[in-house]
Amino acid sequence: MSEYVKVVIGEKTYELPVIVGTEGEKAIDISRLRRDTGYITYDPGYANTGSCKSNITFMNGEKGILRYRGIPIEELAEKSSFREVVYLLINGELPTQRQINRFSVLLNDHSLVHEDMRTFFENYPKRTHPMGILSSMANTLKSFYPYLENQEEEINITVTRLISKVRTMAAMSYKMSRGHQVVYPRPDLSYCANFLNMMFHTPVKPYEIDPDVVKAISVFWILHADHEQNASAAVVRSVGSAKTNLYACISAGISTLWGPLHGGANQAVINTLSDIVNQGTSMKKVIERAKDKKDPFRLPGFGHRVYKTYDPRAKIMKRMCDTLLEKFNITDPLLDAAKELEEIALEDEYFISHNLYPNVDFYSGIALRAIGIPTNMFTVMFAIGRLPGWIAQWRENFYDAESKICRPRQIYMGEQKREYIPIDKREKKGGDLQPLFTEFQTDKYPDISFQE
Ligand code: ACO
Repeated sequence: MSEYVKVVIGEKTYELPVIVGTEGEKAIDISRLRRDTGYITYDPGYANTGSCKSNITFMNGEKGILRYRGIPIEELAEKSSFREVVYLLINGELPTQRQINRFSVLLNDHSLVHEDMRTFFENYPKRTHPMGILSSMANTLKSFYPYLENQEEEINITVTRLISKVRTMAAMSYKMSRGHQVVYPRPDLSYCANFLNMMFHTPVKPYEIDPDVVKAISVFWILHADHEQNASAAVVRSVGSAKTNLYACISAGISTLWGPLHGGANQAVINTLSDIVNQGTSMKKVIERAKDKKDPFRLPGFGHRVYKTYDPRAKIMKRMCDTLLEKFNITDPLLDAAKELEEIALEDEYFISHNLYPNVDFYSGIALRAIGIPTNMFTVMFAIGRLPGWIAQWRENFYDAESKICRPRQIYMGEQKREYIPIDKREKKGGDLQPLFTEFQTDKYPDISFQE
């Protein structure tokens, strides 16, 4: 007999069906709740809401498990390549040799960026964050590559273009930010080697491809490739639910990832560690600030909505840092600081009782520094890695017969119906919100003119 849950409202009892996932996870199907009872559920940040059924990624936050299409992340990081993982996530199965060859040809065919797009890159103010550029450029691709007639072909080609061009655009924006000549993709190089070459090759110093660095980038991207319904993937699905084009959905995903609570955490970790190492900020003070509820600061790279134990990706990333630093014979004081900070946090009662462990971002910046990636490109690196996950999530949603436009409900807590009061009769009212404009110190901003 299938399981159900009883909800009692007043005199009436309602039976809600239970959905069981392939790994035994259970969900109460509330899709008819409002229709049958007039009630909705309240769940800020959707922390307990299953927004879809998915076959892509399985996570168990209590046991620290992460699998793409059933394959453990540890095995993929060790044995696979990023290109193969892209194929796996998007198509559901590992590719045969023939399929991966074909995929490589397509990636090469679509690796160039339209030359007219360079004008956009060139005209951004010099200090623009590369995530802002990448998000805008992903959306701009739509203007350069309009719809194809055949839907299947449209999806295939758009997906290939995004996977290949986003990587090219990321390297291009880095080169331009340095005022260097752009390096074009080379068909003889693998996906990851190509990226490194586009980033670091210069006419005066040819880039020497190092297989260990190529492997490190590949593992970095594999670890970031998908994470089920994370904030950016949920946004990609949400934008896609309005049948918006894939480029715009990816652009929205990139914007979401930019935030310091999500992918931007890798840059925030380095800033915190730099404060400790370079400014002499004490670790104790950092930990105390993170615990202080009145202080908005949280320890970046720690904590996770799903993981209540060590993030399996962080374990691999930490090992990768050690290997890379050893290989290049680098001593990075930030790595030492990170290890010490981790140790202090993991022994702290607050962190223990809140189940706060390092997440993937805690060590990823140190690995990227060792490879020579500049700090403001860290979140871009995350975005390139997460791209196949976003695409897989978007595609699954696109073909899902149960998918609906994402449109949550709310519980309105504002004023009840009231009259409009003319301006000369209004009295200043106190409220929860600090008024935005009235307290504005206009004399601080002499270049802004205010309208009477
Ligand atoms: N430092 C200090 N306290 C923390 C931290 C942290 N890094 N993370 C969570 N907490 C505390 C919260 O204050 C809260 O305490 P309370 O219950 O006493 O009020 C409790 O732990 C639970 O935290 P929530 O905010 O409810 O957890 P949520 O799932 O909403 O947030 C998040 C998860 C955003 C990742 C959070 O842990 C955080 O801000 N971490 C730092 C930023 C970060 O590393 N982000 C990267 C996440 S992984 C990724 O996107 C790749």
